[in-house]
Amino acid sequence: MKNINLSIENVYKFVSKETILEYKDDVEKKIKSLYNKSGKGNDFLGWLNLPSSITQNEIDDIQSTVDKLKNKLDVVVVIGIGGSYLGARAVIDVLSDSFSSFKKKSNNPQIVFAGQNISEDYLYELRNMLSDKSFAVVIISKSGTTTEPAISFRLLKADLEKRYGKQEAKNRIIAITDKERGALKNLSDKEGYKTFVIPDDVGGRYSVLTPVGLVPIAFAGFDIKQLIEGAKVIEKISSVEIPFEQNITAVYAATRNALYSNEKNIEIMVNYNPKLHYFAEWWKQLYGESEGKENKGIFPASVDFTSDLHSMGQYIQQGRRNIFETVLSIEKANHNIIIPHDDANLDKLNYLAGKHLDEVNKMAELGTVLAHVDGGVPNIRIEIPQLNEFYIGQLIYFFEKACAISGYVLDVNPFDQPGVEAYKKNMFALLEKPGFEKETLEIKEKIKK
Ligand code: PA5
Repeated sequence: MKNINLSIENVYKFVSKETILEYKDDVEKKIKSLYNKSGKGNDFLGWLNLPSSITQNEIDDIQSTVDKLKNKLDVVVVIGIGGSYLGARAVIDVLSDSFSSFKKKSNNPQIVFAGQNISEDYLYELRNMLSDKSFAVVIISKSGTTTEPAISFRLLKADLEKRYGKQEAKNRIIAITDKERGALKNLSDKEGYKTFVIPDDVGGRYSVLTPVGLVPIAFAGFDIKQLIEGAKVIEKISSVEIPFEQNITAVYAATRNALYSNEKNIEIMVNYNPKLHYFAEWWKQLYGESEGKENKGIFPASVDFTSDLHSMGQYIQQGRRNIFETVLSIEKANHNIIIPHDDANLDKLNYLAGKHLDEVNKMAELGTVLAHVDGGVPNIRIEIPQLNEFYIGQLIYFFEKACAISGYVLDVNPFDQPGVEAYKKNMFALLEKPGFEKETLEIKEKIKK
């Protein structure tokens, strides 16, 4: 069985192999500090052994909870934000049929998301859509106090109770939260919701392989066991005893830090399959929140090619030369389409007749890499044999591990996010939340000027 693969030949024109190798000792030291828990944020390392430590009982509990409920459902609303949202959305989007919401018959409920914004229109339209659907809610919040999901949950809980009565509403709510603290935990205990625990030592953005990701993914009908099996493979082949050169997480971390030291401070994640759009959103949160602090860090961005070659392509080819790309390259498409011959050939496409669409896509990919490297954009490539649960599990663990190593090389704590509090403090002050009286006076004074 193949695994995902990393290829960095297209960065050597910008940073040499020797320069990347100079990171070897430091990266190995950082990996050791992850394993012996001596680095920054070491009380948030539960994700490191997550794939291999999940028990069959835990998987069975998730699967049987989902199986018991899903047959009576048209829609599951997954409520959460940030790390309590993006992992599930990424995996479900990668694995779903792009047009599944138009399919008449499905054994699985549609998954929709809420609590990731505070838009009145979004919530209105969501509730409107749910008004003639049989639905359930999965509410996910580690702290149990985050404003965005709490608002959505208050509304949808009331809708469920109005429609089905308290008892049946209770059967249609699953809460994923801290094992003992927080408003959501207290509410769940009071109402008697089925709950799953987010481990204390796993932060939001590293939590996709806990119930945070696994419950929604199981509701969407995907094989959570295979996802975990994939992650387990990378856990094994990137562990502390694997030499630097063979450890793809170590080499990726070293390469991006070498590029960063060489003025490349923006990393663009590139895909040639729109199913990976939300995977890049998950990756942006993982790397942005983990590394962007203390006035440091690579800015994570993303594009969907070839669509964005017709928009961002211009900048990437000829704009400021401070970017590098990391391409998610899928070896084999899951479906086949051959371009047909057309006698009139008015579109002049007969030179492509008989070719797979994927062959054209691959040539667009190769042509773009060559053009961007020529134009001054280093290119890292991650080869994915196929889009399925197993390889997405591999990718998830690969990026998590590489992110932690990379953050340590940058000498930041990759497991905290103190900067996220600033907007919350202002928002609470502006909304006059009890406890924020002093901040309210200060902010009112500030905006008066
Ligand atoms: O990665 C993180 O820790 C954050 O993005 C959180 O997941 C996000 O803020 C949501 O927090 P919570 O799960 O406590 O509602």
